[in-house]
Amino acid sequence: MYTSINDLKQVGRAVSVCVECSLSETRNRAVPGEGPTNAQVLFVGEAPGYNEDMQGKPFVGRAGTFLNELLKSVQLERGEVFITNIVKCRPPNNRDPEATEIAACKKYLDKQIELLEPKIIVTLGKHSLNKFLPGQKIGLHHGKSQVIDGQIVLPLYHPAAALHNGSLRNVILNDFKEVRKVLNAKRIDTTREKDIGEQLNLF
Ligand code: URA
Ligand code: SF4
Repeated sequence: MYTSINDLKQVGRAVSVCVECSLSETRNRAVPGEGPTNAQVLFVGEAPGYNEDMQGKPFVGRAGTFLNELLKSVQLERGEVFITNIVKCRPPNNRDPEATEIAACKKYLDKQIELLEPKIIVTLGKHSLNKFLPGQKIGLHHGKSQVIDGQIVLPLYHPAAALHNGSLRNVILNDFKEVRKVLNAKRIDTTREKDIGEQLNLF
């Protein structure tokens, strides 16, 4: 059945009725993610929170307000990017998603990436970073776009972290400029792994 999923709307429909992990028992609404099929930028957060669970939409609470501000700071419209999460259902009391839940939900995100073929994937927070760089810490990688398995990935701190830590706000705002740099780059050699900052500075 799953192999028949071949567009983003179908992924969304499958997620909305998914019962493949126990988060389905406590969610109000699943949050598949949203954005146009031709989005060049894919944002991957951690998990829906209270507001997202109520509305079925990603990043609509306070972290979402900051994300909107960040998008604006690099002249991006919310309607031109795709936004989703590592797990599509809210963990009770916003606890961290468990490894089993992340594993159960992985196929949806993998399918979204395959269908979108984004120019850049922006990871927001630790769990999202760890999909691409398992076991790594954000402190070492934030704001540096790199090529991982042929895909450009930019690790960022989670926007919610800035709500409790004022100095992180400016770090995230500064790191976000890298999104614009990647979008403006005419050609990036994605056969060269790791840090592509050197290449970006040529433009
Ligand atoms: N935080 C996330 O990681 N994702 C959301 O959708 C909202 C808040
Ligand atoms: Fe299914 Fe993912 Fe929701 Fe778990 S978190 S029920 S795997 S959609």
